[in-house]
Amino acid sequence: MPPVPAAQRRAQIAAVFDSVADEYDNVGVAWFRPIAERLVREIGAAPGERAVDLGCGRGAALFALAAAVGPAGRVTGIDLAPRMVEATRAGVRARGLPNVEVHVMDAGAPRLAKAAYDLAVASFVLFLMPAPVTVLRAWRELLVPGGRLGVSTFTGREGWLDEVFRPYLPPPVFTSGAAGAEDPFDTDEGVEGLFAAAGYHGIRTASADLDVVFADVDQWYAWSLSHGQRAVWDRIPAADRDRVRDAAARRLERSRTADGRIRLTQRIRFTLGHRAGAGSIDCTG
Ligand SMILES: C[S@@+](CC[C@H](N)C(=O)[O-])C[C@H]1O[C@@H](n2cnc3c(N)ncnc32)[C@H](O)[C@@H]1O
Repeated sequence: MPPVPAAQRRAQIAAVFDSVADEYDNVGVAWFRPIAERLVREIGAAPGERAVDLGCGRGAALFALAAAVGPAGRVTGIDLAPRMVEATRAGVRARGLPNVEVHVMDAGAPRLAKAAYDLAVASFVLFLMPAPVTVLRAWRELLVPGGRLGVSTFTGREGWLDEVFRPYLPPPVFTSGAAGAEDPFDTDEGVEGLFAAAGYHGIRTASADLDVVFADVDQWYAWSLSHGQRAVWDRIPAADRDRVRDAAARRLERSRTADGRIRLTQRIRFTLGHRAGAGSIDCTG
């Protein structure tokens, strides 16, 4: 399949996330928020720091960063999807956070001040980028010398219900464009290699197992429609949807626990690195 042109890919991604902006992370299942909170802890955001959240969505990391840097710090969020940004801005206003701002902007080429941030995070965003090393270089430029970057990605990204959905997985949304045997997002070393190629130092990986618990199949279905997986449902012809949903429900039965709920465990990867500090030589592009 020929690669989708970059502008078209961005428009598709923005449209998917705009379509889920109201329900995103809001269907009673703890998912994006605990992951982003862990990322913010891993990166060690501290009071007074200036932070940027790249692909901030509904603010899972943004609000955790705001709490960590406190009123003396600053947080900037950027996202491609205008409705996500609008909803997150409303959240910023409701929480009364004058030191937090959110903009519609392409994180692939951020129009932000260079060398102006102590830290940057991107939770579940990097694998949506067609040229991750180029993007990681652009993010490094945003950091002060010694500034830190942390990203979260899935391990075994198609592990859940993969046999049910594989025929419908849309390449522009769920893969980096480098899919296949050499997809860097398949392994910790692969993602660390992207960081190394982009000139980061002190690269390390942490991981966490997140239990995601659903009251029943209906809640799982509502959840799967509330984030990027919506793009997969939208690709399934209407005539096939009930069949796919039934197949997913049968597969989910394997994960039903004694209390009748459905418990899935997903391993999350956190990759961290920093820009060379003042006085050291930054020898990569
Ligand atoms: C899976 S969501 C993660 C959102 C948030 N970081 C979280 O953890 O909940 C991916 C987000 O990245 C945004 N995104 C994807 N590509 C982007 C790009 N090139 N520039 C800015 N945002 C982008 C999407 O609009 C979406 O809000």
